[in-house]
Amino acid sequence: MKILAFETSCDETSCAVVEDGRRICSNVISTQIAIHKKFGGVVPEIASRHHIEDVLPVALEALREADCTWDDIDAIAVTEGPGLVGALLVGVAAAKACAWALNKPLIAVNHMEGHIFANLLQYPDLEPPFLSLVVSGGHTMLVVVEDYNTFKLLGQTRDDAAGETFDKIARVMGFPYPGGPHIDRLAAEGNAEAIHFPIPLRREHDTLDFSFSGLKSAVINYLHTAEMKKQEVNKADVAASFQKTVVDDVVGKAMQALERTGFKTLALAGGVAANHGLRHTLEEECHKRGVRLCRPDPVLCTDNGAMIGCRAYYMAQAGVYAPLTLNADPRLPF
Ligand code: KG4
Ligand code: ZN
Repeated sequence: MKILAFETSCDETSCAVVEDGRRICSNVISTQIAIHKKFGGVVPEIASRHHIEDVLPVALEALREADCTWDDIDAIAVTEGPGLVGALLVGVAAAKACAWALNKPLIAVNHMEGHIFANLLQYPDLEPPFLSLVVSGGHTMLVVVEDYNTFKLLGQTRDDAAGETFDKIARVMGFPYPGGPHIDRLAAEGNAEAIHFPIPLRREHDTLDFSFSGLKSAVINYLHTAEMKKQEVNKADVAASFQKTVVDDVVGKAMQALERTGFKTLALAGGVAANHGLRHTLEEECHKRGVRLCRPDPVLCTDNGAMIGCRAYYMAQAGVYAPLTLNADPRLPF
């Protein structure tokens, strides 16, 4: 079964052809990062306009790279949400038009489930049940994937997402959007023990929820106070200390979740999975516990159509299709 999948939830226009859920025939991604960089973040209206320009060329390129014609496509998949409403609507409109014109079924995919399923593309032998840690620009959560279509949310962020926190701090430090990779690079040169930033939700020992807004404010206050007092700041130490606080919190909770559930497989998902500090600490902690750590290649960790096509295949197997009246849902719950 070949699925043509559309992903336009944020600032990447992506289309992919995925065969039988696991084989990527093509995965074309047109990123708008360079366009949004000058504004310091994604501007929703500009993102929507670029999706409109890019969506059909990207879809045609996905078919070409997959060596497919429209007739070879068995179903159309699209990200329904969560994401930016205007951006999502472009993908939903394009996917509905294709499904209608081709008379093929439509599959509406939850973006976060897609991120998790990127692991199934990377690891052909990976099967549920397993635990997943999702750390993206918009979400931070721990999820049990019980089977291909049953998920249990163990914890999520109560305020800012991990990636968002990296980006906001990087912005105050003067780095362009997205700032996560800049903090990551700078942190490698700093002393992670130099500054003690507040540990998120430190009084709630049992929670698997996350909260990064207090930490974000503490780091930004630290930078602003030093600037006001005209004190020299070692930005590498700030980056390293901040990153370590996030990594210790996220890894600590992932290990707690593994202990509680007894799973021996942890599947990482989302753009922050590229962070070197997070990868290193997770590898170490998983190794100690005999846990298999799955981590998709960076291109599958950030937004892409292939992860949507993979997720859609398992929905189709369960007979879960969407009507042509489908609407985008910017707050689609997990
Ligand atoms: O998963 P993703 O594409 O976004 C959402 O779907 O929300 O991830 C993008 C996020 C951005 O916040 C970016 O700064 C962050 O991932 N990121 C990183 C690194 N690479 C990307 N954060 C920390 N360290 C990195 N190396
Ligand atoms: Zn995403």
